[in-house]
Amino acid sequence: MKIHDKLLASLTDMVCSLPVITANRRKVTPFAEGVVLEPGMGSGLNLAHYDKDAVKAVIGVDPQEDLLKMARRRAAQAAVPVEFLARSAEELPLESGSIDTVLLTYTGCSIPDVARALDEFRRVLKPSGRLLFCEHGRSHEPRVARFQDMANSLWRPLAGGCHLNRDIASLLQGAGFRMERCERFYAMARPKFISYHYVGSARPG
Ligand SMILES: C[S@@+](CC[C@H](N)C(=O)[O-])C[C@H]1O[C@@H](n2cnc3c(N)ncnc32)[C@H](O)[C@@H]1O
Repeated sequence: MKIHDKLLASLTDMVCSLPVITANRRKVTPFAEGVVLEPGMGSGLNLAHYDKDAVKAVIGVDPQEDLLKMARRRAAQAAVPVEFLARSAEELPLESGSIDTVLLTYTGCSIPDVARALDEFRRVLKPSGRLLFCEHGRSHEPRVARFQDMANSLWRPLAGGCHLNRDIASLLQGAGFRMERCERFYAMARPKFISYHYVGSARPG
């Protein structure tokens, strides 16, 4: 199991470092400000893209120790202070209304109880706070969405619990977030089932 975890962590770091992913995360990460909560921080790939003049501190949450080890190494080089919570994001030991920005990149697909986690993000955000998101998910094209539904149960165990077919905008709205901006697009021409993106920002009500 240990070897599997390490392999999955290296693979996650490799895929999340791809130029197309980096280009998309750069559409949101530089806009984070104040105290930032980063659920599913993974290997810490957003750390290089924060605006050090706008960010006071980053709290990285992730249950995967092998990924957190990589994130700790990146945090040592980062221009912003970073704290870590080695746990799942569905229940956070943080005060209500204590966070300025929640930064969610390529993590809404993986959190098992995403509705519960989104409730937590809304609880911990200040009323003036903002959730920035850059996620892949359910396509607007029925044919692609049907394929995503079909392939999901095969894909999920191979890809560390990643769901192909989550409608990120609907999930955010269902959790009471008010959408400010939501771009939807295919980040690559092929394969469509994995490259449909939701990028934007939402307010906690
Ligand atoms: C594809 S990786 C993305 C990592 C990082 N956000 C990025 O943009 O590079 C998905 C991350 O979600 C994390 N994750 C899975 N379940 C989680 C949960 N319940 N709470 C918090 N993070 C979780 C995984 O451990 C992994 O680090």
